[in-house]
Amino acid sequence: MNTSENAIGAGGATLLEAIKVWDPFVRVFHWSLAALFLAAYVTGDDAGQMHIAAGYAIAGLIALRIVWGFVGPRHARFSNFVRSPREVLTYLRDVIMFRAPRYLGHNPAGGVMIIALLVLLLGTGLTGYLMTTDVFWGAKWVEEVHEALANLTVGLIVFHVVGVLISSLKDGENLVKSMITGWKRHT
Ligand code: HEM
Ligand code: HEM
Repeated sequence: MNTSENAIGAGGATLLEAIKVWDPFVRVFHWSLAALFLAAYVTGDDAGQMHIAAGYAIAGLIALRIVWGFVGPRHARFSNFVRSPREVLTYLRDVIMFRAPRYLGHNPAGGVMIIALLVLLLGTGLTGYLMTTDVFWGAKWVEEVHEALANLTVGLIVFHVVGVLISSLKDGENLVKSMITGWKRHT
């Protein structure tokens, strides 16, 4: 990446101190997704218009994110953060041994988490939609799969946030803040 384009950081950070990593789409996607997930989850019990709207909005956001994963800037691309199982295991082992390298974009474990979250959310949205169709109307199993996928996603989100906190401590940087501002420490 050309360093001169990162010359001016927030608050006047100078060349090489800060680098723009997360583009505006990724940041808006992330926090809208988190808010919509919360909205869909808490409205699941009555499953009214609000629930359905939040669920479809999530599905729409994910569809856009998938396209962005192919055409977006470097750190948004799947090719930048989807790694082989071997690389993921090596990375996790290195984390346990306190010697994992820092990644400017998503680390290999984060990459797996992102794919898992996107797949589970799409599955939750799809089963939600199926419940509204004539064919699956009233089908108990679809409802159960929908609920199970939603709850599994909550479980993964807990691991996701724990992973973010561990990474932040390990590298001495506030990754949550980076997902808001887009900036990260250069080295
Ligand atoms: C308040 C809770 C949350 C916090 C603090 C948080 C924080 C973060 C951070 C810091 C990253 C960037 C990780 C990195 O530096 O590699 C990230 C990425 C991501 N998070 Fe979260 N997250 C939260 C909730 C959620 C929820 C609820 C979802 C899903 C419903 C979610 C899905 C994702 C996804 C898909 C990415 C990848 C972003 C991309 O490249 O498009 N997060 N999150
Ligand atoms: C991806 C985001 C979604 C999440 C996180 C989510 C989550 C949930 C949860 C937690 C429940 C409660 C299950 C129970 O306690 O029985 C539920 C129920 C329901 N959801 Fe979703 N949902 C999502 C998307 C959708 C979509 C897109 C639709 C429809 C187009 C939908 C339709 C329904 C319906 C009809 C129920 C009621 C099932 C029943 O009769 O109990 N959901 N959802």
